[in-house]
Amino acid sequence: MKFYPSILGLEKEKIPAILKRANDLGASGLHLDVMDGKFVPKKAFDFDFSKEIRAMTDLPFDIHFMTRDPENYIKPYLDLNPTRISVHAEEKPTFDFLKNIKKKGIQVGVAMDLPSDVEILDPYLDVVDFVLVMSVKCGASGQAFAPKALEKVKKIQEQSDVEITLDGGVNTETYSLIKKSGVSSIVIGSAFQKTPPFYPKN
Ligand code: DX5
Ligand code: ZN
Repeated sequence: MKFYPSILGLEKEKIPAILKRANDLGASGLHLDVMDGKFVPKKAFDFDFSKEIRAMTDLPFDIHFMTRDPENYIKPYLDLNPTRISVHAEEKPTFDFLKNIKKKGIQVGVAMDLPSDVEILDPYLDVVDFVLVMSVKCGASGQAFAPKALEKVKKIQEQSDVEITLDGGVNTETYSLIKKSGVSSIVIGSAFQKTPPFYPKN
């Protein structure tokens, strides 16, 4: 199972050690949770700070934009050479926008927040490289896993074989159900930051 550690909520001085851990344990990339204080109440990973993180690691960047107006918001971040980016379906990104990102060689995903129904993804399933299904409400790490996310995963799988990444509340306790669901990758925030970390061994 591919995994993407998130450093949301981590004290700045601990970041280098967790980046090294992610690298050593074979993470597929760093999941960077960009928050604008509007789509979600808090702010995180503004461009300058994200640039500092870029200088600290060679891990591929998987940037999750929990922001309003993603079409404009993402622009500076393209300079950070992201490998994957996801923007929220709730913000109704246009097909042209998504296709333009793909043309730059970046894998593009649409994310859906926990309160949204899977139908919100329908227009995008044939356009995107992956979907990011939230299993907690967007905005913070360390929240409890919401099992209804797995029902959504099942519905998506009935319609499409798009790659699915699950984000939120993934840890030792929730992992076995997640693995059975057949998603291709997971984001691990708080459970990866603690010692010993949780991460999938295969
Ligand atoms: C939540 C973020 C997640 C979060 C995951 O808004 O999108 O990526 O950092 O953290 P955990 O794994 O602690 O739920
Ligand atoms: Zn995230």
